Amino acid sequence: MDAILVKGGAPLSGRIPIAGAKNACLALMPATLLADQPLTLTNAPRLSDIRTMTQLLQSLGAEVTSLNAGRVLALSSHDVTVLRADYDIVRRMRASILVLGPLVARFGRAEVSLPGGCAIGARPVDLHLKALEAMGAEIELIDGYVHATAPSGGLRGARIDFPFVSVGATENALMAATLARGTTVIGNAAREPEIVDLARCLRAMGARIEGEGTPVITVEGVDALHGATHAVVADRIELGTYMLAPAIAGGSVECLGGRLDLVGAFAEKLDAAGITVEETPLGLRTARRNGQAKALHVVTEPFPGFPTDLQAQMMAFLCTADGVSVLEERIFENRFMHAPELSRMGARIAVAGGRATVTGVPRLRGAPVMATDLRASVSLILAALAAEGETLVRRVYHLDRGYERVEEKLGGVGATIERVQDR
Ligand code: UD1
Repeated sequence: MDAILVKGGAPLSGRIPIAGAKNACLALMPATLLADQPLTLTNAPRLSDIRTMTQLLQSLGAEVTSLNAGRVLALSSHDVTVLRADYDIVRRMRASILVLGPLVARFGRAEVSLPGGCAIGARPVDLHLKALEAMGAEIELIDGYVHATAPSGGLRGARIDFPFVSVGATENALMAATLARGTTVIGNAAREPEIVDLARCLRAMGARIEGEGTPVITVEGVDALHGATHAVVADRIELGTYMLAPAIAGGSVECLGGRLDLVGAFAEKLDAAGITVEETPLGLRTARRNGQAKALHVVTEPFPGFPTDLQAQMMAFLCTADGVSVLEERIFENRFMHAPELSRMGARIAVAGGRATVTGVPRLRGAPVMATDLRASVSLILAALAAEGETLVRRVYHLDRGYERVEEKLGGVGATIERVQDR
């Protein structure tokens, strides 16, 4: 099994290229199921989650070809014959549920196993199912599978009001609505950049969508979508993660392709902590000013609020900030599994319910630690960059789901980091 070994202490300097967004790409790929013409995605990230979605789409009969060393994905759903997403693939990745809406919209029915994914709370899919039901689909849960059937004549446009914001449910509803008869209005829609990216791609495929990026999205259903080529938006979570690297380890890093509008709330927090964030012609540069960073109060919220997917990394940063920080997790229960591991490195963290209190210490110490989920694993690597001595981060298969070549990217800006074989 792979592990990552980090020797702390080296200040960072240089540039890190930011990849296309994993979470955008995982929603864009199933959009192929809506059309019988090819969809080409450029700027795709090279990650195991993308390979899992590739396998899932291929298992349905779609063609997925990886070109340009994985940067370009050529997808075709001309010959989709299987309308069942099997447990064996779905259990590996929760985003698999995103094939449900497109399959029902184009083929009238689908069976999708209930998903697994990171163990960060209950994470049900009820909102996805309610959205499809509102469009007329009949839903049954049989032996761990969602069976969804559209009415004869296909899905109907509907008013869908989500009781709270869900990224995935908004994506499923949006994709399904593109081929529904009539108008769909999605209220309390997620506003994440990944939603905006999906809407732009669907529009390029011929969909009629308005309001993406706002809480109300309106979709006029069309009879069919056609082929398109679309460039995946930059990964704001990878961006935020690498912006934190010099904030933690010292020095200055320019994230190529980074955009302030993707990480507004996060960048404001960094600024408040005493970290410089500036726009450059090629992206965003982050630098640590002299002296200790300041403690913060961070509350995770749907976009444009502070992203839950950067909470663990922010905690790693705040472990050595001056004063007492509070992190409130409002999106997922049970998303502080990195806290005990950071504590093993000398951090002072108290978790009570959805709230973590972090009392800054001058320095962390290297230790063997265990990655528990995707974002938690990278938070341990970030913490290790400034820790005294060596840190071995085990179980990095979580990391490989969402970060491409982390050791090369951080190594390229001066970190002492390598991938090693763990017994
Ligand atoms: C997406 C991201 C994930 C990110 C999350 C929140 C992808 C592939 N993943 O996940 O990285 O952490 O957004 O920004 O894009 N919920 C329900 N019922 C549902 C759906 C969700 O109760 O049917 C709950 C969830 O348990 C959670 C909250 O709603 O508490 C938000 O989840 P959601 O926005 O749906 O997250 P995902 O789309 O799964």
